[in-house]
Amino acid sequence: PRPIIIDTDPGQDDAIAILLALASEELEVLGITVVAGNVPLRLTELNARKICELAGKPETQVFAGCARPLVRPLVTAEEVHGKTGLDGPDLPDPVMPLQEQHAVDWLVETLRAAPAAGITLCTLGPLTNVAAALVKAPDIAGKITEIVMMGGGFFEGGNVTPAAEFNIYVDPHAAQVVFTSGIKTTMHPLDVTHKALMTRDWIDSLKTLGNRTGTAAAAMLDFYERFDMEKYGEDGGPLHDPCVLAYLLQPGLFQGRDCNVQVEIGSELTMGMTVVDWWGVSGRPANCHVINQIDAKGFYTLIHDRLARLP
Ligand code: BDR
Ligand code: CA
Repeated sequence: PRPIIIDTDPGQDDAIAILLALASEELEVLGITVVAGNVPLRLTELNARKICELAGKPETQVFAGCARPLVRPLVTAEEVHGKTGLDGPDLPDPVMPLQEQHAVDWLVETLRAAPAAGITLCTLGPLTNVAAALVKAPDIAGKITEIVMMGGGFFEGGNVTPAAEFNIYVDPHAAQVVFTSGIKTTMHPLDVTHKALMTRDWIDSLKTLGNRTGTAAAAMLDFYERFDMEKYGEDGGPLHDPCVLAYLLQPGLFQGRDCNVQVEIGSELTMGMTVVDWWGVSGRPANCHVINQIDAKGFYTLIHDRLARLP
């Protein structure tokens, strides 16, 4: 299996992404590092552990990382995810422990100890932990096989400001550290997630899986979807973060292009905007594979079939 680390701020869509990873034998989840984002850190780490237990994987190591972005104050998204960050299902308080080590220290230690083929980082939230690790120990870049992230938006614009997508907006400085790190990076922006909208029928189909994961996932998405209905209308809303894991499992579901990506960190108006040189007009070398197409039916079939494997 491909060794991965998931860096996340759960979040209902993060939760589905984590479940997808834990259900897939092609992937070995070495650990989950948690960051402040959708809600503060004490809730994102709690939610991550709840999801591992839901998946029947209490042995998964969960590490808490940075409690705030590098430079800017933390911006959260309770209006999307609810007060707990994981509103919807009634999940028990986790029994599994939170690891004592700080996520940034664990990232550095684990990457340094990794074999030459390296480890893939899946990032589903603001990039604070990853940037902090790269600043603390630049040598780990050589052990990161690839960073596959959910973040950004270009032709599609932003979802938190007209210019910026949430994960990049919350910590634009961290994102710029990542984009200028020289590490192979694949980005799943709003341009792709907005092309795979969740239908009512698909959410309902999770209720018929007959396992507790299906019931809890449907309850999460019922809650999450109510916001998207208000925002995106009858077609349903995007399910952003699972794109990252689906890409590792079935890359053929996606298409994109190698481009240069930089992050705006100077202007308040466009703070956190991902400036994607889609047409190659800047002369700056490509530093990112930017995804913009998805087979939505294949994507939702994959998630449905994998969640069926869990308890
Ligand atoms: C991203 O922001 C968060 O609210 C979601 O979990 C996702 O990672 C979408 O912009
Ligand atoms: Ca997220």
